Amino acid sequence: MPNAAPVTQSSSIVQIEPWIDDDELRELKRVIDSTFLVEHDLTREFESLTARLASCKHAIAVCNGSMALFVCLKALGIGPGDEVIVPNLTFVATANAVILAGATPVLCEVQEDTFCLDVERAEKLLTRKTRAIMPVHLYGQSADMPQVTALARRHNLKVIEDAAEGVGVTFEGRHVGTFGDMGILSYYGNKTITCGEGGMVLTDNDGLAKAAYRLKNYGRDQKGTFVHESIGFNFSFTDLQAAIGIAQMKKLPAIVRRKREIHDRYVEELRGLAGLRPGFIDPRCQPVFWFTSFLCEDPEALSVFLRRYNIQTRRFFYPLHLQPCYADGRHARVIDEDFRVSERIYRQGISLPSACTLTPDDQAFVIEKIRRFHADRN
Ligand SMILES: Cc1ncc(COP(=O)(O)O)c(C=O)c1O
Repeated sequence: MPNAAPVTQSSSIVQIEPWIDDDELRELKRVIDSTFLVEHDLTREFESLTARLASCKHAIAVCNGSMALFVCLKALGIGPGDEVIVPNLTFVATANAVILAGATPVLCEVQEDTFCLDVERAEKLLTRKTRAIMPVHLYGQSADMPQVTALARRHNLKVIEDAAEGVGVTFEGRHVGTFGDMGILSYYGNKTITCGEGGMVLTDNDGLAKAAYRLKNYGRDQKGTFVHESIGFNFSFTDLQAAIGIAQMKKLPAIVRRKREIHDRYVEELRGLAGLRPGFIDPRCQPVFWFTSFLCEDPEALSVFLRRYNIQTRRFFYPLHLQPCYADGRHARVIDEDFRVSERIYRQGISLPSACTLTPDDQAFVIEKIRRFHADRN
């Protein structure tokens, strides 16, 4: 881990940042020397590394996670007239990808404990138009995938897993994003490992892999030809992104380890503070603590207090049914209007500084300030 200077009140403790150093520079030099900046050999290498990480047959690099979701939806033939179940508590990109594909997102409540899709509630939302279900593996946890896939089998639904936040996360030993028909990962700058921007489509199905590749490559099976078998677009990766990703992938085990240490220390040293509860971990899941999150009575007040000491925190995702862009009901279908669980999680959730670059001294400072906040209020 890099050595940061000890914290003073003028240096910021960031909520999240990537670990970037000479390793990334060395890989980038390979690209610069080759002069192949566009998607080429290093992208294939990075796809192989991702496929190996996830134990998945195909990993197809796409410009970002949002477009990876769109590619999955189109590869599965989902479009106008179709409904797709999405959790109400997620980053907005999950539902927006459904809209871009021309289909309608149907908002579903999440589970109180894992914050992920409530599959029993999802079953009640199914209509003749439901074609797919899109569980999200939120904050480095996993949705209950055996339950999701059982539901999909019973009702002949496709499963697209949004594992944007799930790099390295496994459920009963299997990497998230590989349980359904297709899944995606994100390599955006704040993710567990990053390429700056970047996404990956995961699938074990040869036909879907081919369809996904065509969709991102102007509708053709290979670059360098002007014969286009189907309608496609340009969601290419670049070897510049791949170079960073290759260096990051080597750091992944150390990042995961460090994030667990950070999580465990917060949980241990904040134990017993009234009203501050760590997120629940499903014992079947081997999480990656992308963010260490707690539920508390007044996360906004805590966040404002910590900001006085240059400590950054983040509130939880704003539930989709409350978003200005969804609240009027024109873009998403809201069948079940009871979203008390996602509203409560949003109202109580706070993510603490969780970067793998957080030094032990910085973390001690954060913990001390959280204790002070609680002492002042009690
Ligand atoms: C749950 C979720 N889905 C989708 C995305 C979109 O990924 P990207 O930023 O790579 O487009 C993100 C975050 O970035 C996310 O957190």
